[in-house]
Amino acid sequence: MKKILIAGNWKMNKLSADAEEFIKELRAKNLPNEKDICILAPFTLIAGVGEALEGSEIGFGAQNVHFEESGAFTGEISVPMLKELGVTHCIVGHSERREYFNETDDTVNRKLMALLAAGITPILCVGESLEVREGGGEQTFVAGQLIADFSGISASDAAKIVIAYEPIWAIGTGRTATPEQAEEMCAFIRGVLSGIYDMATGDSLMILYGGSMKPGNAKELLEKPDINGGLIGGASLKADDFAAIAEAAASL
Ligand code: PGA
Repeated sequence: MKKILIAGNWKMNKLSADAEEFIKELRAKNLPNEKDICILAPFTLIAGVGEALEGSEIGFGAQNVHFEESGAFTGEISVPMLKELGVTHCIVGHSERREYFNETDDTVNRKLMALLAAGITPILCVGESLEVREGGGEQTFVAGQLIADFSGISASDAAKIVIAYEPIWAIGTGRTATPEQAEEMCAFIRGVLSGIYDMATGDSLMILYGGSMKPGNAKELLEKPDINGGLIGGASLKADDFAAIAEAAASL
């Protein structure tokens, strides 16, 4: 059976009452695959989401983290701070952070190492812009990101990283990659990691697709052999939509 992760990226949305209601609704659905689901919340909501999830197998975590353990980094949140809240997952290198907040492959690499050392599962985002895709350079671009982001990371640690292929042109645009485009890149990513490490590492890696995944298109994407789930933005904000995607995964 293929390993699956359905991860909800709330981005900068929701206040605590709404978050609590969402978790209540989601838990009430008694999804058979709770262990394959996680919610990535804004920092202010993480503790509350964790409490609301107590006794459930649904994971939860953050959308970013700083790579240093502590110190004079005003406004930042460290890995030990997340660890204290019991988080299971953390997004690293989302394209919005790369574009608006100066995230580079170097900081992404340091964040991956800090999370791995603490036993938190990183969800590493990679993906090309529309300009790069139209120029036919998407594979070269994504391979470059992977080589830089995995630099100095051992094979056993690499196998613990979840990769999310998120073509920037499909994020929040309603323009989903076709299942064939998504599968082609996810298979390519698996191949790149098999090349950097070995076949066993490449085969065991979890690779998600992200970019306008919703209840109506989830199944055809999730059915593809190299796609191990989804990183879902807009459609993770409503419990009904998010649960429908999780149900599509459970029915595979
Ligand atoms: P979207 O966002 O599902 O709203 O396109 C996905 C993401 O940015 O992780």
